[in-house]
Amino acid sequence: MSEYNGIDASPPMARWMKDTLDRSFFHRLIPVLAARVSPEKTAEILRAQPLRKTVLDLPKIKSIVPDPGNPNGDKLLLLRVQHEADLTPEARGYLRAHGTTFTIYTLKLNYDYWTADDILHAILPEELLDGAPSGFAAVGHLAHLNLNDEYLPYKHVIGQVIMDKNKSIRTVVNKLNSIDTKFRFFKMELIAGEPNYVVQHSELDCRFIFDFTQVYWNSRLSAEHERLVSLFRPTEVVADVFAGVGPFALPAAKKGCGVLANDLNPSSYKYLQANIQDNKVTDLVRPSCEDGRDFIRNVVWEVLDSPLAPYTPRLSRSEERARKKAKLANTPYPEEEADTSSRSVPRNRIAHFVMNLPDSAITFLDAFRGILKHPRGCDSVAAAAAVAYAEMPMVHCHCFTREMVQESAERDIRQRVGEQLGRALGADDEVSLHLVRSVAPNKDMYCISFRLPRDVAFDLVTSE
Ligand SMILES: C[S@@+](CC[C@H](N)C(=O)[O-])C[C@H]1O[C@@H](n2cnc3c(N)ncnc32)[C@H](O)[C@@H]1O
Repeated sequence: MSEYNGIDASPPMARWMKDTLDRSFFHRLIPVLAARVSPEKTAEILRAQPLRKTVLDLPKIKSIVPDPGNPNGDKLLLLRVQHEADLTPEARGYLRAHGTTFTIYTLKLNYDYWTADDILHAILPEELLDGAPSGFAAVGHLAHLNLNDEYLPYKHVIGQVIMDKNKSIRTVVNKLNSIDTKFRFFKMELIAGEPNYVVQHSELDCRFIFDFTQVYWNSRLSAEHERLVSLFRPTEVVADVFAGVGPFALPAAKKGCGVLANDLNPSSYKYLQANIQDNKVTDLVRPSCEDGRDFIRNVVWEVLDSPLAPYTPRLSRSEERARKKAKLANTPYPEEEADTSSRSVPRNRIAHFVMNLPDSAITFLDAFRGILKHPRGCDSVAAAAAVAYAEMPMVHCHCFTREMVQESAERDIRQRVGEQLGRALGADDEVSLHLVRSVAPNKDMYCISFRLPRDVAFDLVTSE
């Protein structure tokens, strides 16, 4: 907190504090000039133009307080100067005209008063003040930071201050620079609070529980989760190849979709199963724990073989009540009359594949070659597949690129996708490209969506 028009209310400097946070060090007594005002006049005085820049205006501090020496008498109007001589001529003139007398009032500030930013600015060396890490990302009760090396000697103090100043945070971790290359979760160290890494987090009306040290989670992807889920029709079936703990799968199921959700990480699979139960979508989500390539190759046959339950609209509580009322009155509930065709039909066709493993998802696309050519050459099943897949599924594949201009990014991504599919994507393949987010100064994350080419799925591509 910087000097405020003559009153410096910043915490005392504590540049020596490094390993342990000493909260008791942070206290200050600050004398300020106070004008005695009668309780009936306070509102008028607070609005008076000549006092506009004179009344004390510090965060969390009232500018009108009881007089400690005379609690039932006049109130004290706190001013942002310490001496009468420092008042502006307009303020002095106004207060004199009202016959005001002055006293000194002592502000008592302690550790609780200052923000995390104020405290860290008092502790960290001058050269580290720019970019001091009072901000953090939170998942449930856990805050995670990404501290640069120069801040590491202060990590415990930083963690403690962040925890003190954010009441919902009980655990603070610092991400280490290594990411588990296979399952994409970060290695991290505890810098403050309890070593409890199992968090509860809400996104898109779903509750997710998971161990942040064992699985991948990124709250920055919530807009992307929402965007893709909004593309799915409630009657459709979605296959999520790299599902994690379910941030696409569960919201999709909540809107009615049938979902096949797969993740190779046993911990992700464990929490995915728990989250399916917890969000009450067991009838709609089928979890699995296999390699993404095997999952892609098998999943169309699995769904043809054992289709997902027919679509049933999920009614809100008020709709549920209206439906019960209609039933009692023996009148048809309007929603029941609509689109009954899609209701009774078990769902045996995948409409969307989701592939959020940006580091390598493109390299899994070769698994789509021939997925609709029956592995055992069984004619009746192959015929059923041909009927079900009159319309081919959409594939939504996430990827990184180092091409920073959209046109070059598209060229780069299309080329890599084409190599894996065995042929370039063309005008008929309904290709679209969406910039998800910038992950580093020269690295962007995209999602390429396209309709799986029929000749790729039936393995009819002839080498170019
Ligand atoms: C970037 S995360 C995405 C998770 C989730 N879909 C999301 O949006 O947050 C990628 C996931 O793919 C899983 N994974 C990595 N390699 C895999 C593989 N070969 N087969 C299946 N899943 C894999 C990881 O465990 C991780 O949960």
